[in-house]
Amino acid sequence: MKLYNLKDHSEQVSFAQAVQQGLGRGQGLFFPQELPKFSLVEIESLLKLDFITRSAKILSAFIGDEISSNDMYRLVKNAFQFPAPVASVEADIGSLELYHGPTLAFKDFGGRFMAQALVQVAADKKITILTATSGDTGAAVAHAFYHLPNIRVVILYPEGKISPLQEKLFCTLGDNIHTIAIQSDFDACQALVKKAFDDDELKTKIGLNSANSINISRLLAQICYYFEAFAQLTSTQREQLVISVPSGNFGDLTAGLLAKTMGLPIKRFIAATNANDTVPRYLETGKWEPHATIATLSNAMDVSQPNNWPRIEEIYKREGWALKSLGHATVSDEVAKQTVCELYQKGYLSEPHGAIAYRALREQLQEGEYGLFLGTAHPAKFKEVVEDILGKSVPLPEGLAERADMTLLSHHMPDDFAKLRDFLIKLNW
Ligand SMILES: Cc1ncc(COP(=O)(O)O)c(C=O)c1O
Repeated sequence: MKLYNLKDHSEQVSFAQAVQQGLGRGQGLFFPQELPKFSLVEIESLLKLDFITRSAKILSAFIGDEISSNDMYRLVKNAFQFPAPVASVEADIGSLELYHGPTLAFKDFGGRFMAQALVQVAADKKITILTATSGDTGAAVAHAFYHLPNIRVVILYPEGKISPLQEKLFCTLGDNIHTIAIQSDFDACQALVKKAFDDDELKTKIGLNSANSINISRLLAQICYYFEAFAQLTSTQREQLVISVPSGNFGDLTAGLLAKTMGLPIKRFIAATNANDTVPRYLETGKWEPHATIATLSNAMDVSQPNNWPRIEEIYKREGWALKSLGHATVSDEVAKQTVCELYQKGYLSEPHGAIAYRALREQLQEGEYGLFLGTAHPAKFKEVVEDILGKSVPLPEGLAERADMTLLSHHMPDDFAKLRDFLIKLNW
């Protein structure tokens, strides 16, 4: 697989380089040189395969012989150890539930495949993943890399400033997952990580890597669940399929559009945002005018400068599609709350991110169409918010409830780079 840097097309890299580097020169995103296409007959036969076998074939179509088909099957099998079911919500609407993985969110698919891919392409190199978290990413990264050989993960988080449940989710694992509660705030944690990446000697010594969220391997993995959703639909539902994607950094939508470029016959997409509506306004006015980020109930989508947007523009350009064919909607907190209640009355428990995508879909779906919205997080992941909206308690899924009783294994440290550096150097493999 060859990829180019969207900011500097002369920088071209292999899949292995793109996975290890994350970003290109000038913080440019990597984008595939070839967008593989399947014929309708090939799509039909892919849809008959099981999730793992099909996903391995989709990923191999992009990645090519850098990873053998046997290895690809193994990586996907290790990564996708949980289903992505479509739940029926109304006669013409289903929810693609992407939250049955260990950290209850869609990121488990991309994060776990990225981890597998990184170990594969790094061969025997030892890698230290260093990241700062305000809660969510830490858990996804920790679970994705847990027990993987030649990799260790160090996660910094602000002591006392993440939810107790979030802390339990990634600070009780042990083995190759090291967590440090920093006696300061999230910005201080991020600044410590940045200092580590600026320290060339340290970087080489411990093989620093960030495994960040714009890594191309994540997006490629996410393509697979659009095919999986399609495979579960009836032939009538497949005919006029509209997919609504709750969007923040627009990674999920990028993956959906890539599924379409491969030939999956999706009629159209709707990009649903919260009040952070840079993209919907851009699609309306043609002007890119990010405002200051606004805090909302769907806080994982509180992004005003979505970092995957250049990839979406590139897809439209390369495919010759008109950007105005992309549906869009902005949903306020008030309407998101009402929608969580409305869905609950219909017998479906949701949370604000998925509810925003449902709202946009319900409003824009036309006669004869079938709609899917992405359920990106388990309602228990946003337990407090959902309980507050519904006035009912939301039970934790089994695995998570058990983890809530485990002992925290975190180290504690002041906001002091010299101490962190020393810790990293002394950390045993
Ligand atoms: C629960 C949830 N929904 C939606 C999104 C938005 O996804 P994307 O950033 O790919 O647009 C996120 C992002 O973190 C999320 O955590």
